[in-house]
Amino acid sequence: MRTRHVVLHLAVVLALAIPSFAVAQGPSTCAPTAPDMLGPFYKAGAPERSKTGDGLTVKGAVRSARGCAALPRAKLEWWAANPGGEYDDAHRATQVTDGQGGFVYVTDVPGRYPGRPVHLHVKVTAPGHKSLVTQVYPKPGQNSVLFDFVLQPE
Ligand SMILES: [Fe+2]
Repeated sequence: MRTRHVVLHLAVVLALAIPSFAVAQGPSTCAPTAPDMLGPFYKAGAPERSKTGDGLTVKGAVRSARGCAALPRAKLEWWAANPGGEYDDAHRATQVTDGQGGFVYVTDVPGRYPGRPVHLHVKVTAPGHKSLVTQVYPKPGQNSVLFDFVLQPE
């Protein structure tokens, strides 16, 4: 009877341990990035450029939730309010990640507008993956943000 109890106990421990091992295989940084509101100001077709101002740098990589793989040639589309808190075409950009999935985007610190913390909008797309619409929230006084965008495979 005691042996049976031990075997059952082992079976329970294994059943609990195996799924958590499977989940723990990729680094936790490769959980898919949470989506955020698109808002009313997105426009497709922004010029390809990596600089739309000065004072805030967003740097990181685009990755796949599948194995944390870097996604070269992923497309980032940025839009944000200008320092006066108004959306304008001068603060829109499209950029494409390098061979390691990396990007650097330099812009002005967005101005505040009522009811929202300071934020940049971004849409990230890559072949074989669901597109991601999200926002980056620099903290007050922060002029450099590290941010990896993790896309879910289709
Ligand atoms: Fe916004």
